[in-house]
Amino acid sequence: MSSANDVTVSGDPQGAGTDYLLRVIDEIEKIPQIKKYRKKSYDFLEPLTGKSFLDAGCGSGSALCELASLGGNTSQMHGLDIRRGLLEEAARRAETARVKIRLTQGSVADLPFDSENFDGIRCERTVSHLQSPIAVIKEFVRVLKPAGKLVVIDVDADTAFISPGNLNVTRRMVSSLADNGMSLTVGRDLPGLFKMCGLVDISAESFVIPHSYELFKSLYEKTVLEAISREGSASEVGVWWEALKEADDAGLFFMGVTATLVSGTKGLPS
Ligand SMILES: C[S@@+](CC[C@H](N)C(=O)[O-])C[C@H]1O[C@@H](n2cnc3c(N)ncnc32)[C@H](O)[C@@H]1O
Repeated sequence: MSSANDVTVSGDPQGAGTDYLLRVIDEIEKIPQIKKYRKKSYDFLEPLTGKSFLDAGCGSGSALCELASLGGNTSQMHGLDIRRGLLEEAARRAETARVKIRLTQGSVADLPFDSENFDGIRCERTVSHLQSPIAVIKEFVRVLKPAGKLVVIDVDADTAFISPGNLNVTRRMVSSLADNGMSLTVGRDLPGLFKMCGLVDISAESFVIPHSYELFKSLYEKTVLEAISREGSASEVGVWWEALKEADDAGLFFMGVTATLVSGTKGLPS
């Protein structure tokens, strides 16, 4: 484990792509709805002083730095991510923001922390990257102290709406986004997963994350191309894609996806 603002890591299991990820992470956090629900996640974790928190899948560390700043550096703020490059960026951002954070490289599926360690955990748009969301929520519950708080924000890609475009092709593309081997529909399952993992006082609030054409393209172009090669309908999808570009040039592109913020508390031992 690492000490304040140090990153003790050993290689990056996923290698390249940190620059791309950082660009996308920075773009998404400019979206007003993301700012609003991030703030709600901080509010849920209050009081932020004198306690121990984990931002699981902390990415660039910007939410973690905000939390540390809100806690006036009186709390232990831990960030965990699987990517070394992102943790290094988080350490740089903490230096710039003059906040103390602790960073650990590891997986949310197998947290390198003792049980009953944290007063609060937040996890934003990371559970959807795992194949077994229930295993991740169980891990969060394990490392939470009794009465500790968990807040998770994640998407349901199968709810994406995209305009304009041929509705049949759009439906197939949306399904291919949602079925890409991760858990991109987990947003709808989170309340049930919290309950199955024994959390109490569960509350859920859904919202829409609007995407610009550029963000939509950076996030989903690869998945759409894979869908084309699977379905052998390149020309149809090519036309669909081109129509979206033209719509964007004319100021007519509109796309969004539902996300849900779910919060709950670990019960006290009986
Ligand atoms: C969409 S980004 C979100 C980052 C950050 N939570 C935010 O809201 O900006 C997903 C993050 O999950 C991390 N991640 C993916 N799989 C992970 C795993 N198994 N364990 C820990 N982090 C993981 C990625 O490296 C990335 O930082």
